[in-house]
Amino acid sequence: MSSISAPRGVRDILPDESWKWEYVFKVTRDTARDFGYREVHLPVFEHTELFSRGVGETTDVVEKEMYTFDDRAGRSLTLRPELSASMVRSYLENRMDKLHQPAKLWSAGPMFRYERPQKGRYRQFWQIDFEAIGSQDPYVDVESIAVSLEIFRKLGLANLEVVVNSVGCPVCRPVHKEALQSFLKSKLGDLCETCKGRFNRNPLRILDCKNPVCREITEEAPDTISCLCAECSEHFSAVRLGLDRIGAAVSVDKRLVRGLDYYTKTAYEVLSGDLGAQNAVCGGGRYDNLAESIGGPHTPGVGFAAGVERIVLTMEQQGRSFGEPPVLDAYVVSPDPSSRDESVALLYEIRRSGIAADIDYMGRSFKAQFKTAGGSGAVFACVLGPDEIATGSVTVKNLETGEQHQLARAELSSFIIEFKSAKVKKQEGNLL
Ligand code: HAM
Repeated sequence: MSSISAPRGVRDILPDESWKWEYVFKVTRDTARDFGYREVHLPVFEHTELFSRGVGETTDVVEKEMYTFDDRAGRSLTLRPELSASMVRSYLENRMDKLHQPAKLWSAGPMFRYERPQKGRYRQFWQIDFEAIGSQDPYVDVESIAVSLEIFRKLGLANLEVVVNSVGCPVCRPVHKEALQSFLKSKLGDLCETCKGRFNRNPLRILDCKNPVCREITEEAPDTISCLCAECSEHFSAVRLGLDRIGAAVSVDKRLVRGLDYYTKTAYEVLSGDLGAQNAVCGGGRYDNLAESIGGPHTPGVGFAAGVERIVLTMEQQGRSFGEPPVLDAYVVSPDPSSRDESVALLYEIRRSGIAADIDYMGRSFKAQFKTAGGSGAVFACVLGPDEIATGSVTVKNLETGEQHQLARAELSSFIIEFKSAKVKKQEGNLL
């Protein structure tokens, strides 16, 4: 029988990598708390309609990339390709409009898109997602961008470019659409096949096509900013001014339109200079009509999502620190089978005191147990043989220095705990 491998485009996040992810989540969680965002866990699948109506029928995500299936009762369900539609659904369903507004919420988890896999682009990928729902204040847009930049700053990411744009609203977008279509009409034959298809359905997306011919054609095309209505124009100026006031270095990219249909007014992305083709670490913007498109009352909102794989890739590429990898404090070594039961008792004794500890389960020799202890990253090997049992003691060997001494068994936990806290203090002192 042939062995089964993981489906194309998905990855196992193994222990040598998963601890790095923990660091990213810790920084995210701390930043969420500092900015007043509260965590929500959302379902991995939703009714397909949530995305077709919320994200937009003519988007690549809905047209080509969703994992959609019927459940046993014949309902059409979809593995979430993104989180904003789910977050707004949850806001409406749970009457979060009754809470302090805006509701500032965040979530993290796997998303699913049937895309062509390549470096930094997967079919299952993780996002951290922040949404502020219920306010149209431009300073909420500013704060959303600021949260993402703060997370990246704490993670030490460099070589980033932050680009913003305004994609307008249902008042000014038709004006832009018409201007764009009349500009492109005579050049339609020269556009790439994808853009030809977009001409009627979603001409805005022609502006951010990466095809060099399309880029050249659209060089002089009317951009969204030139067509903004007074309200959107005022909003965009306020966002830019706000970003300026908080010292966020951003540039305006008039071509930025984003791939999801719900955006109104602000759209933004954070690009990494170290990621190659899939260079967006983060994307977001305002979506004042998303709630209505899924059947709710008019509810403004703004947010962003950042790809965890791309954050970790960028950090690795830039040699950033992920903090200390988790290691054991102690490894209990049993010199002969007669002392094994007591060694196991000791193991649980010290674990109960909060010490990370392990023991051999493979019948290894005394010498091999020491080797495993060394490889486990534990600082101490704690030897409990017949002599130690007889005298109520433990032989403790510091595997880093080779230093060895005998301790009363009752003192072992406090000895290791004190050693650990002295080490932490020293590290903190070094940082000062
Ligand atoms: P998005 O631009 O589609 O926006 O995705 C956000 C981020 O998720 C991207 O910048 C990228 O880092 C990551 N990402 C997207 N697709 C993949 C993939 N196939 N593999 C790896 N990483 C990927 C959204 O999803 C919006 N919901 C963001 C938002 C929140 N807008 C307002 N609120």
